[in-house]
Amino acid sequence: PFASAGQVSHWAAHYIADSINAFAPTADRPFVLGLPTGSTPLATYRELVALHRVGKLSFRHVVTFNMDEYVGLSPEHPQSYHYFMYENLFKHVDINPAHIHIPDGQADDLEAECHRYEAAIRHYGGIHLFMGGVGSNGHIAFNEPMSPFDSRTHISTLTEATRQDNARFFDHDPGLVPTTAVTIGLGTLLEAEEVMILVTGQHKAQVLRAAVEESVNPDWPISCLQLHARCLVVCDADARMAL
Ligand code: GLP
Repeated sequence: PFASAGQVSHWAAHYIADSINAFAPTADRPFVLGLPTGSTPLATYRELVALHRVGKLSFRHVVTFNMDEYVGLSPEHPQSYHYFMYENLFKHVDINPAHIHIPDGQADDLEAECHRYEAAIRHYGGIHLFMGGVGSNGHIAFNEPMSPFDSRTHISTLTEATRQDNARFFDHDPGLVPTTAVTIGLGTLLEAEEVMILVTGQHKAQVLRAAVEESVNPDWPISCLQLHARCLVVCDADARMAL
């Protein structure tokens, strides 16, 4: 636990950089990093860019897999997760574009896209470190309450609560938020070697409590991470209010 959200981001960025540097990735043995969107990781991305600028971190041999993408939004749509990732991280670092993986929410055959995504993760031998955030109803990526813990990449229907939450990015109009998304499954996440979840702000206090103090419960998808042997939850004082 840290006092402020700023300290959470600082620590998380250094943890990622240290993990990549300790792994000493090469072209034949890249580091495989899972990444989220949302407002929580924004400052972590800024810190990662800063570490890259001062020569303390290279993404040359890093392969990334994003958690999810809205169905129907083009990569140029400012609220697409493609756009978010390029604006906030990828265009500022030395990553090879061929190493970037984000589900294609515009694929003609979305089922096939889900299989392709899982196969791409398998091709690299799985994910070394998956960073994530959490929605206020406990969703991870777009795995909404009652999602099975062994799910793989799939098409998810967003709950009303999530569309209300995310409406802040769509002119505050939940009607503009896509109704479905392509998302990694909880099973995909649980198979990562290590998971790091960032939780900041008072509005996440209930979800943090459910994540770490209540039993494993599909009402709160985040609670599945209690089943993971190497899961870090990095949080600030505001998020800890209900503990
Ligand atoms: C979206 C994403 C999630 C993210 C959540 C929380 O729904 N699909 O991966 O964790 O938003 O976002 P925020 O960090 O803005 O609270």
